[in-house]
Amino acid sequence: MSRVIGVVSIKGGVGKTTTAVNLATVLANDFHKKVLLVDANYYAPNLNFHLGILDPINTLNDVFQNKIKIFDAVYKHNLNFHFIASSLISRKVDPMKLRNQIKSIRSFYEVIILDSSPSLNEEMLSVMLSSDELVVLTTPDYATLSTTLKAVRVAKQKNIPINGLILNKVRKHKCELSLADIEQATGVHVLGVLPDEAKTIDAQHSLTPISQYHPNAEISVEYKKIAATLINEKYDDTRFLSNLKSIFSKKVEKHEINRELFKTRRFLKK
Ligand SMILES: Nc1ncnc2c1ncn2[C@@H]1O[C@H](COP(=O)(O)OP(=O)(O)O)[C@@H](O)[C@H]1O
Ligand SMILES: [Mg+2]
Repeated sequence: MSRVIGVVSIKGGVGKTTTAVNLATVLANDFHKKVLLVDANYYAPNLNFHLGILDPINTLNDVFQNKIKIFDAVYKHNLNFHFIASSLISRKVDPMKLRNQIKSIRSFYEVIILDSSPSLNEEMLSVMLSSDELVVLTTPDYATLSTTLKAVRVAKQKNIPINGLILNKVRKHKCELSLADIEQATGVHVLGVLPDEAKTIDAQHSLTPISQYHPNAEISVEYKKIAATLINEKYDDTRFLSNLKSIFSKKVEKHEINRELFKTRRFLKK
């Protein structure tokens, strides 16, 4: 059965597109899933730039205008997943259009990842209405937290399950909000903590997702752990140093516990 996962937040620059790209990449390459990644940020699309596709020919825009069928907009990326790009749309798009298109294509994939717009508008609504479940991107600062609270509220109003928060660009500075603060304020568990990693920007400049550009970086391994959680699979971190560290440290991080609880809950629901 296919799963449609929306990657959302009501703020730009928090890492939605980077996360959507990397989740698609690790799901396809490390977990061998049939994956479709869709740029649903169709008023300001940019996902294609992360993937080295600078000028996509067939896009979601053409599909919405009934110029082509959704299958003709699918780009087969050499990173083993399929991708649908967007091109600038200047008029309003009915939020049901994306939902209907995703419905018609979902049986061909195991996981569909939707990258969302940062605006609380019909773009985000279309992602919410098309998704079975959401992950909400956030960063550990008050300004982002206030928008995260709003995103969580909207998802709850629309009855769309939130798998969890992904806390991005974490520097472990004293002034940052803690995971506990964020969980308490939002009432949603954190499923992943991604470090602020300069190599992410290098990777983007090389038009390669960080999880391929630097597969052993902390951030890449965390993407693999988050992906494993979302699809209820196991991921073993085989890096020598991190295994050595875990032998000497008894501390289990809260988000690691959350991941295990998430998998158990999913398993019990089956
Ligand atoms: N963990 C990270 N560490 C450092 N830079 C990051 C990280 N995640 C994303 N970025 C960078 O932040 C910028 C915004 O990310 P992006 O994914 O486009 O955000 P959004 O889609 O939410 O607007 C990009 O330049 C991206 O490379
Ligand atoms: Mg984006």
